[in-house]
Amino acid sequence: MKNDFIEKYGTWALITGASSGLGVEFAHQLAAKGLNLILVARRKHLLDELALQLVEKYKIQCQVVEADLTLDNFQHTLMNAIADIDVGLLVNNAGMNCEGQFYRGSLDRNLQMLELNTRAPYILAYEFGKKFIERGRGGIIFTSSISAFNAHPFLSHYAATKAYILSLAESMNYEFKEKNVDVIALCPGMTKSEMTKGMKDGPLLMEAAPVVKTAIDNLGKTAYVIPGFINKTQVFFNSRILNRSGATHFTGALLKKVLPAANKKKPSK
Ligand SMILES: NC(=O)c1ccc[n+]([C@@H]2O[C@H](COP(=O)([O-])OP(=O)(O)OC[C@H]3O[C@@H](n4cnc5c(N)ncnc54)[C@H](OP(=O)(O)O)[C@@H]3O)[C@@H](O)[C@H]2O)c1
Repeated sequence: MKNDFIEKYGTWALITGASSGLGVEFAHQLAAKGLNLILVARRKHLLDELALQLVEKYKIQCQVVEADLTLDNFQHTLMNAIADIDVGLLVNNAGMNCEGQFYRGSLDRNLQMLELNTRAPYILAYEFGKKFIERGRGGIIFTSSISAFNAHPFLSHYAATKAYILSLAESMNYEFKEKNVDVIALCPGMTKSEMTKGMKDGPLLMEAAPVVKTAIDNLGKTAYVIPGFINKTQVFFNSRILNRSGATHFTGALLKKVLPAANKKKPSK
């Protein structure tokens, strides 16, 4: 049977941050479409377990690559490990956060976040984008965040990294369209994953499955996508109803109320 998704994006996808949260969900949904997968993260035992499940359930092939994407030259190790695989879809999903007052996270942790959330996805998009353009087809999914749309006091640096990703993805979407390469930024609000572990369940916290489905369904259709009515409304309010300063004040006041880390003054490691 003809599989349009595979015709467009080839038979192999690479997912970063595949050991938990949204990355695991990307792996299941892409495997269900028949794609073979390269699973990338640091915790190899989790990737190995996931690979076993995927191979058994979807009858696909899986390759696990243990990699720390904050390391200098991580791309050489990664590219060497998959040199003989023709990747057609890149899911630039790995990320971390650092929340609370500006000086709560140490400089080291913040620099690690900068590297993981911006440098690594840029390098991978650069390397794979070149191959996709040469081939005349392919796709790149970036995981950004709704925090990308306006300034977020108490989530300042994280939101800035996600704004970088959104801007990069939108520009690449425009430039790559005529090369038949699809680029999209997924902009989730709070979603169940290790990142939100311990957060109270409620309408603000989405399941990973519909979040990931929104990205996959909209690849090739839009430059960015916001999953969920509440998240869409929040972005609309902050970017269309309020001006930039109003959005900063509103978001700051809200996060000061709801983020426990916003009220802790002691620097964290
Ligand atoms: N959950 C939310 O509410 C939410 C909202 C908006 C956006 N996002 C974004 O969604 C993406 C996925 O996050 P998640 O929510 O699924 O969180 P998660 O469950 O914590 O997953 C993060 C993933 O990134 C990987 N990772 C972390 N540090 C790494 C490193 N140095 N090198 C390689 N991989 C690394 C982790 O694997 P290892 O620890 O095994 O390396 C894990 O697989 C992130 O970009 C995040 O910013 C999440």
